[in-house]
Amino acid sequence: MSSATTNTHYNYKVVRQFAVMTVVWGIVGMAVGLLIAIQLVFPDLNFEPYLTFGRLRPLHTNAVIFAFGGSALFATSYYVVQRTCQARLISDGLAAFTFWGWNLVILLAAITLPLGITSSKEYAELEWPIDILITVVWLVYAFVFFGTVMKRKTQHIYVANWFYGAFIVTVALLHVVNSMSVPVTFWKSYSAYSGAMDAMIQWWYGHNAVGFFLTAGFLGMMYYYVPKQAERPVYSYRLSIVHFWALIAIYIWAGPHHLHYTALPDWAQSLGMVMSLVLLAPSWGGMINGVMTLSGAWHKLRTDPVLRFLVVSLSFYGMSTFEGPMMAIKTVNALSHYTDWTIGHVHSGALGWVAMVSIGALYHMIPRLWGRDSMYSIAMVNAHFWLATIGTVLYIAAMWVNGITQGLMWRAVNADGTLTYSFIESVIQSETGYIVRAIGGAFFLAGMVVMLYNVYRTIRAAEPDQAKLAAQMA
Ligand code: HEM
Ligand code: HEM
Repeated sequence: MSSATTNTHYNYKVVRQFAVMTVVWGIVGMAVGLLIAIQLVFPDLNFEPYLTFGRLRPLHTNAVIFAFGGSALFATSYYVVQRTCQARLISDGLAAFTFWGWNLVILLAAITLPLGITSSKEYAELEWPIDILITVVWLVYAFVFFGTVMKRKTQHIYVANWFYGAFIVTVALLHVVNSMSVPVTFWKSYSAYSGAMDAMIQWWYGHNAVGFFLTAGFLGMMYYYVPKQAERPVYSYRLSIVHFWALIAIYIWAGPHHLHYTALPDWAQSLGMVMSLVLLAPSWGGMINGVMTLSGAWHKLRTDPVLRFLVVSLSFYGMSTFEGPMMAIKTVNALSHYTDWTIGHVHSGALGWVAMVSIGALYHMIPRLWGRDSMYSIAMVNAHFWLATIGTVLYIAAMWVNGITQGLMWRAVNADGTLTYSFIESVIQSETGYIVRAIGGAFFLAGMVVMLYNVYRTIRAAEPDQAKLAAQMA
């Protein structure tokens, strides 16, 4: 069946490959997340030297952001660009290269990180030979994406492609600038920057990795899949254009909020804070545009769990982009920084927004990719929805309680100026939260396993309806 579909109008083969790997890498990355969450409850589960928290944490972040999130972005961008431009990908060979190249990067990450091979830059830990491979794969991705946009049969470029395009261009720039280093051996290099400059470049990268890898691309997803699933046009096309330019113009300045009260010049910290506050406006503009697309279609939420995934993801997006600007205020950050509050914020964005919108997009796309009417089991999609939602809420609520408790305990002082609590007392106080977070993570992971089974049964179902598949291809 696959040869029949790959040779027709659109290249769905690469979309299918990335779609399946999104689910697989999601399970792997979240399983590692669950393991490190459990290690924080039972430290005896740290196995020296390869399976310690310190080595597995970057494996978790790389696997969920770049393997799970990255595969979701590749799959959906290749699907959306073809359908909205009514053009087949410019090159099947190069698209296949991005699939195998990206998975090779992930494999190399999974080997080198537990071995302790790292540049030690957060979210950019991979050593220089892998960085070069990433650059090559990414440039080919840019060529395939923009090449397809160039040969479009439609007159205008649909807004989803603007967001995907900005994500691709900006990530290339961020990756190349931040990864500049001086190699000393094949597996060891030192950053080309030093001191406060290195920190600034790293968090210009880090924050924009959030803004462009974890946000802009997923907004592209929102602009295609929400209207499609709701069967309604985007609420406001004009707002989507304002949203696009405002978001990309403002995000790029907000990085210094990761470096409050450090050696970074004070004016740069204040600039980062102000720009983060301004960022609330475009973020909410986009969120409102997505939610309002459901006008007249709200009743569908009662029966359609796929739409529920998409709408709840937008609610978490709105929540985390309200919380982020608040945490960027210096006095709030004085409490939240170093605490589990940051971890809660991260996962309300990561689980609630990034993972949920991807899952919704996959449930929309997978039956269409394989020429089926719908997923094998809608009941399972519904079960997944509840496991994911309850899991996310347990995770972030536990981290809010922990974070604020830690922040308050660390700053409490006695009348004579000595600290009221020792550090270990705050750790003991956090234990319940860590247990609740691990339970939340287990819920979320269980949902992904249900999804894998459902996807497997959907793909393996009886022969597809050829007429339907042909209609999808047209
Ligand atoms: C089952 C689901 C998940 C569980 C149980 C989980 C658990 C964890 C744990 C325990 C940490 C370390 C926290 C610490 O250092 O105190 C962490 C960090 C992190 N996770 Fe997850 N995670 C999950 C899913 C995800 C997903 C889907 C993403 C992204 C799409 C993600 C992104 C991150 C990031 C970026 C960090 C680093 C945060 C920071 O440095 O502030 N996680 N996760
Ligand atoms: C308007 C939007 C947002 C703003 C202004 C913002 C702001 C912030 C602030 C102030 C911090 C804490 C920095 C610190 O104390 O170290 C932070 C951390 C973080 N945020 Fe956001 N945030 C926003 C949206 C998001 C979204 C949507 C996501 C995920 C999809 C996200 C992911 C993260 C991550 C991964 C970190 C931890 C970085 C680290 O220390 O390793 N943020 N954000």
